This record gives sequence, C-alpha cells and structure tokens, in this order.
Amino acid sequence: MQLPKIPPTPAVLQILNWVFRPMAYMEECTQRYGDVFALKLDKSIPPLVFVSNPQDLQIILTQDTKELEAPGDLNGLLEGLLGKRSVVTISGVEHQRQRQLMMPPLHGERMRAYSQIINNTTTKVISQYPQGQPFNIRHVSQEITLRVIMQAVFGLDEGVRAEKLQQLLGEILENTSSVWRIALLYLPALQRDFGPIKIWGRQLELQEQADRLMYDEIQERRENPDSSRTDILSLLMDARDEAGQPMTDIELRDELMTLLVAGHETTATAIAWAMYWIHKLPQVKEKLIQELDSLGDNPDPSTIYKLPYLSAVCAETLRIYPVGMLTFARRVKTPITLGGYELPPGTPVIGAIYLTHQREDLYPQPKQFKPERFLERQFSPYEYLPFGGGARRCIGLAFAQWEMKLAIAKILTMRELELVNNREVKPQRRGLVTGPDHPIQMVIKNQRQIKSRSLETSTVG
Ligand code: HEM
Repeated sequence: MQLPKIPPTPAVLQILNWVFRPMAYMEECTQRYGDVFALKLDKSIPPLVFVSNPQDLQIILTQDTKELEAPGDLNGLLEGLLGKRSVVTISGVEHQRQRQLMMPPLHGERMRAYSQIINNTTTKVISQYPQGQPFNIRHVSQEITLRVIMQAVFGLDEGVRAEKLQQLLGEILENTSSVWRIALLYLPALQRDFGPIKIWGRQLELQEQADRLMYDEIQERRENPDSSRTDILSLLMDARDEAGQPMTDIELRDELMTLLVAGHETTATAIAWAMYWIHKLPQVKEKLIQELDSLGDNPDPSTIYKLPYLSAVCAETLRIYPVGMLTFARRVKTPITLGGYELPPGTPVIGAIYLTHQREDLYPQPKQFKPERFLERQFSPYEYLPFGGGARRCIGLAFAQWEMKLAIAKILTMRELELVNNREVKPQRRGLVTGPDHPIQMVIKNQRQIKSRSLETSTVG
C-alpha cells in the first residue's frame, strides 16, 4: 500500500515550518509531492494527510459520517480555550445533536433581527474615529464583531459584566493570535511559565476570569428566567435532549466560549481584509461605491445582502486568503483512496482550503484579487469552501456573510477612507485565523452622505 509522501525532514522542523510559514510550506509540499501529501505534526497521531483537489475534497466532505468520521478529539489543540464540551471538541451523535441546537439562532429569520444590531453597532463604532487620524482597520472590525456577537449570544453588549467579558475576550484572543502561542500548542513541553515570563499562566488566569463571568450570567438567568429573551444563551438554556435533560453549566460555558471565539475573530479579520482590497484597488472601490449608492438612503438589509458586486468582493476576499485556511481534520474509518493513495483506517485527513483556493486551474492568476470571477462562473462547494463543508461545516456561515456585507456597506456609505500607505499586505498565521502580516492602517478622509441617489461628500465636523 503506497502512502502519501511526507517531507524527509525531522518532525520538529515540519512543526516549525507549519507554525511559522504554513501557507508557503503547504505550497512547497504541493509542488514537491502533488495534491495529496502528509505532515508529521503530532506525535500522538499518524501523519496528517492534506487534501486540496476538489474530487478528493468531495469524498472527505460527503463521506465524513460514513467512510470517515469528523471526531472532536482531533481538535484537541482547541480544548484549552473552548473546553471539552464544545461543539468543536465533541464527536458523533452528540456532536450532531449539539449542532442542531445551535443552528436555528444563527439562521433564517434571525438574520433580519441581527441586521439592525450590525448596522447600529457599525455606526456607533466607526463614529468614534476622527477624521485624519490613522487607525488599524482590524481594531474597528474587531470591536464591531465582538459587540455584535455579544448581543447575539447574550442579548447585551453593555453593562459591567458585558464590558468586562469583552475586554477579557479581546485580551485572550490577542494572546492566542501570536504565532509563538501556536508554537506552544504544538510543543506541549513549553506549556508552562519560565520564571517571570508568565505567558502560559496569564492566559489561564484570563480564561478563569472569563469563565467566572459566564457562570455568573448563567446562574443569574437560572434564578430569573425570562421567556421573552431570544438570545442564543436563552435558547440553549431552554433546549432539552431526547431524555428531557437541559444542557449543564459546563456545556453552556463551552458553547458560549466557542461562539464568542469562532464568531468574532474570523469575521473581524475577513472585514479587515475586504477593506484592504477595496481600498488597494481603485476600480474595485469605484464599482462597489456605485452599486451601494444606487440603493439610495436606508436600503433594506436583504437588498444589500443580495448585491452582486458586494457579494463577489466578499467571496473573493475569502478566496484569496481564506480566514480559515483549513477544515477541521476528519479520520478514515474504512479504507479509502484519495489522489491514488489508499489510506488505512485511523488516518487523519484535512481539507487545505487555502491550496484549493490557489489552484490555477480553478482561479487563473490566483494571487490577484478579482471579484469578477464570482460574477463570471459558479464554483462547486468543493472548489470554493471558505466555510468548510460536511459534518463540521461552519455553523456561523450565514451570520458571518450578513455581518461582512452589512458592516462593509455601512462603513463605505458613512465614510470615505483610504489606506495610509500602499505597502503590500501578506497573509500570515494569526492564532486561529489567517490575518494580515502587519497592521492595515487606514484614515478617514471625509464623511459621506447619500441624498436622493446622488453622492455628497463633506468634511467630518
Ligand atoms: C468569515 C467568517 C468565518 C469563516 C471563514 C469560518 C470558517 C470556518 C471553517 C473553515 C470551519 C471548519 C469547517 C469544516 O471543518 O468543514 C468552521 C467551523 C465552525 N465555525 Fe466558522 N467561520 C466563520 C465565522 C463563524 C461565525 C460567525 C461563527 C459563530 C457565530 C462560527 C462558528 C463556527 C463553529 C461553531 C464551527 C465548528 C462546527 C463544528 O465543529 O461542527 N464561524 N468555520
């Protein structure tokens, strides 16, 4: 039986390449070994097989509850942050049940309710930034997405507990975003403090404080039930399993943390990337502004959501540097053939979203930002998959797309911005996401107003 090729370098070098230059390393491995290759990243499991060809992706994402499984134990690296009872770290029937509980508040009609929250929050946040003073656009998008997810999850983004939780979460994620911390995750021997250098202990301290706040909120709600609340925490607290049992406090805490983490940093980074491309490429900005202005004052959020060019810009943003460069890992249950290799049971397999999105045969000149690709042709769910697929497809897909489109539309219709410099920004690992390698500095030039479908610009007072 022939197994996928693995680089001949020692495991520790593979880990270091993987941690510090994951995209370049994956591209080098594809060039050397073809569409399917493996890396030795974790002593406790067999080499991880990377797959990027749409035919192979279709197999793993349609068979991941049949010939393969989508087990939570392969996401063990996230256990420290999300907990053992998170939808990300649990498996099998329990995982499917938990997904079903969490999905309704993130879909359908609920999106209309969140539209207002997104619009109001974006207006509030962008209004804090004065004209002429440079700022990092990711700080803006992070504040928007953190406030929005806090309201969706808890029904509040103000008050002492909410403010404290937002601040703690910001710090926890900022710490998580350093590549050094990712290195610590892969190299457990380093998971401790070194004398006065309290990298690991500080993170635990912050998490404990955040946990306490979440448990206090849960406790308070148990004591004062309010059936009129529609936030995600209330819905999860009301949910019962087949045996009529509610979720435990630990389960609730882990799902809250999962939603706050998964629902915030990802979309914030995607909005920041979109703002970069829109302002880097004048023709993209011009077309987009024209499309948005054609809607006049106060357009309906679903009209904004359906705008073709805005949708294409968001799609291309998530193609070129997908915020999640990988799917979660799946594991082979019965022998399967991928890329000509027969993989035995137990083999972990991962979808390399970044590599698929960089395929020249699907996306000619893949390193160029061209929203028109998405107007000219449709891509299959295995050719374009920023949200993964199958049993672990992102449950925040609809939420993220609404938030991206509405926040971008709101910022662009309120303010005229520009990049502070023309320096090229490259992708790099930023904790759990693929973010910019240096801050994207922007500045507000003017305030914008659309009056009766004609555009006016005036100086911010
Ligand atoms: C642009 C924004 C986002 C991107 C690019 C993204 C991407 C992804 C990807 C690639 C996966 C793995 C899918 C797979 O293995 O097949 C995933 C899973 C997940 N995402 Fe997202 N995501 C985004 C926003 C969100 C939001 C807003 C939420 C929640 C409000 C969320 C919650 C989750 C959860 C809970 C999972 C795990 C699902 C499971 O294990 O069953 N994501 N996401």
